Amino acid sequence: MNCNHACSTDNWAEVKATAGRVLGEDLVAFIEQCRAEGNPHSQLIAVLHRVQGKFGYLGKSQLDAVAQLLQVPAAKVSGVASFYHLFRLQPRGKFIINLCLGTACYVKGADRLAEKLSDELGIRFGETTGDGMFTLEGARCLGACSLAPVMVVNNDMHGAVTPDQIPIILDQYIRKAKQQVEEKPAAQS
Ligand code: FES
Repeated sequence: MNCNHACSTDNWAEVKATAGRVLGEDLVAFIEQCRAEGNPHSQLIAVLHRVQGKFGYLGKSQLDAVAQLLQVPAAKVSGVASFYHLFRLQPRGKFIINLCLGTACYVKGADRLAEKLSDELGIRFGETTGDGMFTLEGARCLGACSLAPVMVVNNDMHGAVTPDQIPIILDQYIRKAKQQVEEKPAAQS
């Protein structure tokens, strides 16, 4: 349960040490600097941005550590994190699929791609597959309307995509992930 008050600073050294284990010393230093500048509530969004930039999402332990270090009530921190769409409260997949749902792509069948992606992955927009492989997201316009319908997987752009190509494209990334796993032990030996 979230408390509505900033937590006690009786044992500040311990608070810092715990936050350091969760957030890392770089973020602890940044948050301390924000707190020292005064009005920590106004710094909260900037701090959450930094934390998400480092971890890719805002987990409960990270939010608690921010609340303690910034001396802002935990309920306020989790409230802000869940209110703004730009903050993610769940880890994202290894591959982020961004399907363009802009007008040009929609006219060229982006809705059918959305349906096919959802069926193939077994998830809806905003969700991540159980194996942590794919996150499915939608975008307004990816700036490549002449290639519509378009989807981007991490940094790879796929243009003029048809529903039949979706399993093939997904398979490329599954194989890529497997290959990376196989190459890792070889690189370490
Ligand atoms: S509308 Fe899809 S790239 Fe512009």
